[in-house]
Amino acid sequence: MIGKFIVFEGVEGGGKTTQIELLRDWLLGKEELRQILSKYINVVITREPGGTQLGKALRKLLLSSDVLAEKIQNTSELLLYAADRAQHVEALIKPCLERGAIVLCDRFIDSTIAYQGYGHGLDLELIQQLNYIATGGLKSDLTFWLDLDVEIGLSRAKNRGNFDRMERANIEFHRRVQQGYQELAKNNSLIVRIDANLTREKVQQQIQEIIMQKLVEWRYN
Ligand SMILES: Nc1ncnc2c1ncn2[C@@H]1O[C@H](COP(=O)(O)OP(=O)(O)O)[C@@H](O)[C@H]1O
Ligand SMILES: [Mg+2]
Repeated sequence: MIGKFIVFEGVEGGGKTTQIELLRDWLLGKEELRQILSKYINVVITREPGGTQLGKALRKLLLSSDVLAEKIQNTSELLLYAADRAQHVEALIKPCLERGAIVLCDRFIDSTIAYQGYGHGLDLELIQQLNYIATGGLKSDLTFWLDLDVEIGLSRAKNRGNFDRMERANIEFHRRVQQGYQELAKNNSLIVRIDANLTREKVQQQIQEIIMQKLVEWRYN
């Protein structure tokens, strides 16, 4: 596919949303990048859950604490995330990549491994299979893991205001999620760790440096 699929991962409050927007602005605003970016038609920002209409409805069910009075069971949650992803890949991500877009995506398959696998203790092999079914084998071209202390992330998320169902889970849960990301990064060379404890500007600078290298590498493929 002509396009490139770039994913942002990490615990709550790590700065994914902030950094994706800064990156889009940089990609579109930098004169020096014009030529190297000319093979791509545009930059698309999307997220999981919630990148499609179906996804938005699922996101509400999954993350708003006031929609359902009953607890979503861990396995149901896993399947809802998978449904969101299947729709997202087929209806949005693949068509964008086929048209030649750079897709910046807030969370993807590694979130399910980290949250539902390491966080909730669901079977990792089952999750891998479900991820495969949901994506049809589509993988990111590059994944940034915004790594920061769990407490710092949660306090940033709290200050942001809308503190959702996942963010309210206990600190031990978030520590297990963090450990999940550590394991994933150890075993996958396409995951690039970014020190996200730093200022917005310093975090963005690390991301831009990696993107510059990648754009050169991708120039002819
Ligand atoms: N490097 C940073 N230092 C301090 N605060 C930050 C930084 N990056 C983001 N924030 C703030 O922390 C909160 C969480 O950031 P956000 O981008 O929403 O994280 P995420 O999407 O990973 O949950 C927001 O209020 C944001 O403005
Ligand atoms: Mg966010």
